[in-house]
Amino acid sequence: MSSINYSEKIPNNVNLADDRTLQRALEQWQPNFLSWWGDMGPDGSHGYDVYLRTAVSVDAGGWAHFDHVKMPDYRWGIFLTPGDADRRIGFGEHRGEPAWQEVPGEHRANLRRIIVTQGDTEPASVEQQRHLGLTAPSMYDLRNLFQVNVEEGRHLWAMVYLLHRYFGRDGREEAEALLDRRSGDDDNPRILGAFNERTPDWLSFFMFTYFTDRDGKFQLAALSESGFDPLARTTKFMLTEEAHHMFVGESGVSRVIQRTAQVMNELKTDDVNKLRAAGVIDLETIQRYINFHYSVTIDLFGADHSSNAATFYSSGLKGRYEEGKRDDDHRLDNQTYRLLDVTDGRLVEREVPMLNAMNEVLRDDYIKDSMAGVNRWNKVLEKAGVDFRLSVPHKAFNRQIGTFAGVRVAPDGRIVSDREWQARQNEWLPSAEDRAFVASLMGRVAEPGKFANWIAPPAIGINRQPVDFEYVRFN
Ligand SMILES: [Fe+2]
Ligand SMILES: [Fe+2]
Repeated sequence: MSSINYSEKIPNNVNLADDRTLQRALEQWQPNFLSWWGDMGPDGSHGYDVYLRTAVSVDAGGWAHFDHVKMPDYRWGIFLTPGDADRRIGFGEHRGEPAWQEVPGEHRANLRRIIVTQGDTEPASVEQQRHLGLTAPSMYDLRNLFQVNVEEGRHLWAMVYLLHRYFGRDGREEAEALLDRRSGDDDNPRILGAFNERTPDWLSFFMFTYFTDRDGKFQLAALSESGFDPLARTTKFMLTEEAHHMFVGESGVSRVIQRTAQVMNELKTDDVNKLRAAGVIDLETIQRYINFHYSVTIDLFGADHSSNAATFYSSGLKGRYEEGKRDDDHRLDNQTYRLLDVTDGRLVEREVPMLNAMNEVLRDDYIKDSMAGVNRWNKVLEKAGVDFRLSVPHKAFNRQIGTFAGVRVAPDGRIVSDREWQARQNEWLPSAEDRAFVASLMGRVAEPGKFANWIAPPAIGINRQPVDFEYVRFN
């Protein structure tokens, strides 16, 4: 069961051939997916041979096979982590009951909504990143971008399989709609805010894969606890792919910082104008990009106080991050959680029933995880002897969702007047000028082993290949 059948039109490890109706429905969706990829996938990339990894098995170790492939020939398919026949639900009112192999009628609407919301983010990020290939800072980075793109395409397949297999006609309609919405479109946008933002340059791309793909990690981890077993198994396999996306982000930002610190030392300056003139990105601008991507991403966890989130947990649909490793009762009926609130113009803590704060619980776990990487970036600065330190802004900064929506909060957590916000927002968020400067550095570097001036080369290549390997053949 753990090996993947590549002899079929749609590679899978779910015995698709045994279910003719489902197979036919998915084979009808496949050309629509490919035409979406043709329209909205990586711009101008169709003839390239790209050194990509493809899943060959779903076992924890060694599932990846690397080879040069033309991206439209990538074998997108349906891969679920092997099931455990005795699996039991680990949390909520149904804790201890056998995990569901079919969708329980009373949870159908909520499960469909969860799957559609997750599914919508996958093609959205491909759309957001579609022009970046034209300005890749190296062949190595170009390959990483394309790897992320094809895997987000496969994540869409993962959710579409669940919709087709378990949700009948309305599932098929939702699968079509996933190909119709467009990131940033006025009339038919993607469902969640961060997935309608632009990813116009490579600093944004690295920030996106560091912060926003990490939201993906936490959402998928919470869904991998689900009582609905097929959802748990498909998200578990998606998590193995997600790890590489976050690596691309963390190492990408790290290399930008490394290069900036190097030039700061060479020129013995921290003067923004001198550094920009030398063609590297000043640390203040990097901090503003962090502030933007972090605040937009933590909105994705939803309102801090949410009865839907309580229902999702209590009914066993969506667990906590690493639910199985926690030693409480996994029902949380009488537990409380401390939330931040705004009273009389001040931020104050307030205790609420934990079930209603499940979005905040997941957001706080995410915050811890994302701060760890920022600390690793600071090590790069420390090692280079540069005093500047990067940080994530206060969680109330620049929020559009929940209690802090519409409240003006500085990155240090002070509530500020509208006037101070207007006067200082260019210190706190990327200004039009910052974005124009970063854009001015973008230009394709396409020779093996060559890197744009604003970014350091990686320490090692992909799959033990040398850094100057020909990761992309342009033909
Ligand atoms: Fe994804
Ligand atoms: Fe991802």
